[in-house]
Amino acid sequence: MQPGPGKPRVFSGIQPSGGLHLGNYLGALRNWVRDQDKYDNIFCIVDLHTITVPQDPAALRENTLSLAAIYLASGIKTEQAMFVQSHIPAHPELAWILECFIPMGWLERMTQFKEKSGRERERSSAGLFAYPALMAADILLYDTRYVPVGEDQRQHIELTRDVAQRLNQRFGEVFVLPEAMIQAAGARIMGLDDPEKKMSKSLAGDNPGHAIFLLDPPDVIRKKIARAQTDAQPAVQFPAGTGVRNLLEIYRTITDQDWPAVEREFAAKPYSVLKSAVADAVVEALTPIQERYREIRADDAGLMRQLRGTADRLRPIANTTLQRVQHAVGLR
Ligand code: TYM
Repeated sequence: MQPGPGKPRVFSGIQPSGGLHLGNYLGALRNWVRDQDKYDNIFCIVDLHTITVPQDPAALRENTLSLAAIYLASGIKTEQAMFVQSHIPAHPELAWILECFIPMGWLERMTQFKEKSGRERERSSAGLFAYPALMAADILLYDTRYVPVGEDQRQHIELTRDVAQRLNQRFGEVFVLPEAMIQAAGARIMGLDDPEKKMSKSLAGDNPGHAIFLLDPPDVIRKKIARAQTDAQPAVQFPAGTGVRNLLEIYRTITDQDWPAVEREFAAKPYSVLKSAVADAVVEALTPIQERYREIRADDAGLMRQLRGTADRLRPIANTTLQRVQHAVGLR
């Protein structure tokens, strides 16, 4: 399949698993906002992915609305297509078909599954194992060209391409092949408490100092950054250790600067200077988002109407692709 005319289609999504962190923002959402006018975008709230690990139902409902409000508060324009994955049944329907063409071995190699299932592999859900098939369905349903994500999703997009190619080879051109769009800056933000580990929602559960959340009040942000792990050096040196490097990466991403510029700014400065500059930059970026978030949340009914309306508009597009695949494999 060739992509259609017009602006290239972008598809991406985030799980409504509670509190978006700075890694999600710098690795994904901020780039969606910056580039939104260049593409024909679809931004998804992937609630079906979220239930692959246990969720409290009321919290999931709240987190879904909260994430939609965060998309808008971060600067996604209201005319962009933003919807909830479970509102379009073609997603799990296509995922099932894809699962039947994805060898177990491909799924077993997924690092996200290995990390998330951990030592509980036997007890983790079949949904967690099949997770990448649903993600492939999300992307392929809309003839997506580009998928803007952080570095940790690269492997899932490779799998998406592999299964798409497999069906294309076997049944003729059914799918457009998507590409990951991963930025040089901010694609892998590390934990503040442990810069060897990627910043993630699950690690923040055990240690609140691990991640900065988009809705953290300024004093909490400042405290977390002040306590971020550095090393025993008295001041910033290059090459910097992992903790200092992570703070510099946050700073250069949020202030749109390259490495030489931040090296010049911070070389030989005490860590306290670096940390307060990072804290100021993060607070400055997040404060307006938090203000808009509160305004948007004042009208949850309107927000839900928007999400449902967009799903109504997208459903025929998704169904057209689903029917093409169903026909190709002999289901219709
Ligand atoms: P999720 O919800 O875990 O993360 C959302 C986005 O944030 C990025 N990200 C990071 N970027 C930089 N540093 C970090 N520490 C960091 N942690 C997370 C992720 O790369 C992602 O872009 N499987 C996806 C959701 C998904 C999806 C899709 C994405 C479902 N269907 C279709 C794109 C297209 C996920 O769990 O993201």
